[in-house]
Amino acid sequence: MLTQTHARAKRLADLPPVNSDSLLALIALCDADPRPEKIDVGVGVFRDAVGNTPILKVMKEAEQRLLVTQVTKAYLGSAGDKRFAELLRPILLGPHADDDRIAGLQTPGGCGALRLAFELLAAANPNARVLVGTPTWPNHPPIIRSVRLERVDYSYYERGQGIIRFDAMIDALNSAEPGDVALLHGCCHNPTGADLSEDQWREVVRVVVERGLTPLIDIAYQGFGRGLDEDAFGVRLMLDACDEVIIAQSCDKNFSVYRDRVGSLWVKTGSKSATETAMAHVYQRAREMWSMPPDHGAAAVHIILEDAELSARWLVELAAMRDRINSVRQRIASADSRLSFIGRQFGMFSMLPLSKEQVLKLRETHAIYMADSGRFNVVGLGDDQIDRFTAAVIGALDA
Ligand code: LMR
Repeated sequence: MLTQTHARAKRLADLPPVNSDSLLALIALCDADPRPEKIDVGVGVFRDAVGNTPILKVMKEAEQRLLVTQVTKAYLGSAGDKRFAELLRPILLGPHADDDRIAGLQTPGGCGALRLAFELLAAANPNARVLVGTPTWPNHPPIIRSVRLERVDYSYYERGQGIIRFDAMIDALNSAEPGDVALLHGCCHNPTGADLSEDQWREVVRVVVERGLTPLIDIAYQGFGRGLDEDAFGVRLMLDACDEVIIAQSCDKNFSVYRDRVGSLWVKTGSKSATETAMAHVYQRAREMWSMPPDHGAAAVHIILEDAELSARWLVELAAMRDRINSVRQRIASADSRLSFIGRQFGMFSMLPLSKEQVLKLRETHAIYMADSGRFNVVGLGDDQIDRFTAAVIGALDA
């Protein structure tokens, strides 16, 4: 047996090359560009009018309180900070907050929540196929691949017109088998900004129920679109209608704690005991992958949400971020009728109808860094960069 294993053994030097993650590679490319006028609309981080990604004032205060009051850094366990998850419940689940068939735990960001969600789904049904509307967040496909679930892509977005291909989406969901997974964006669709309307959510929920699909909702930008409750409309509608729902949530953006990795995973099944069993699987997988999530960011979010005055201040700072996103959208949208769709979309991203060659040309000639797909971060732009960016994009569309 040992000899056979050794006969197959390969060395690290035999590993094949890997294409680096496109969004992370873009950060490095932009950082390396010496041109002072460069515009970074690549990776999704909020920037203010002068182009900074400040730590929220309320977060600074919570971190100071944490520094003074924290008396131990002893292990918390795979669930992380349980009170953090309890405090998030009403914000995410709204009227479902008291449903004891729904359980949640802290994860390392929304990405950790997604990985854990797919681990759980693969454990429950390794034959499940995952229906993915494209384009999607570039890290979705690799995460699905990592748990060896089959992915079925359908076309979600009509790039030229800036609209959702809703009929194609419904056809795809209708053709799925019971037990298949529908991966859905809760709000502020990444990369297109094209969110389902309330009527479209109703139709999606109807088909998910009719086909017996398991919905997995990725909600990483709650509060960046229309408001905390409005952005959770689809999540809550799905919870109204389905016994089994999984939600991957992130605080990284709405608390502006990106690198601290603050997220949560939520699981609903038809009974409290089935949820407890599912969560036991979740804790075990978390233990295998990261043992327990990093504490600092979640501990600071916990302090904010536990305190009425800090919570109120967080809502004001969140509203200011949302208002900036929406005002930059309106400014770009009003510059040219071909960009008007940007004013009807939500969240940090929209996707321009540009080819990869056009995107690369904007990078070379105007030092504008956006994803090869044409996705750009609306609030990557400082106020003084908006006109130059818009003019360059219009020039590319005219060419
Ligand atoms: C993005 O899409 O830019 C963000 O979600 C950052 C990331 O991790 O890709």
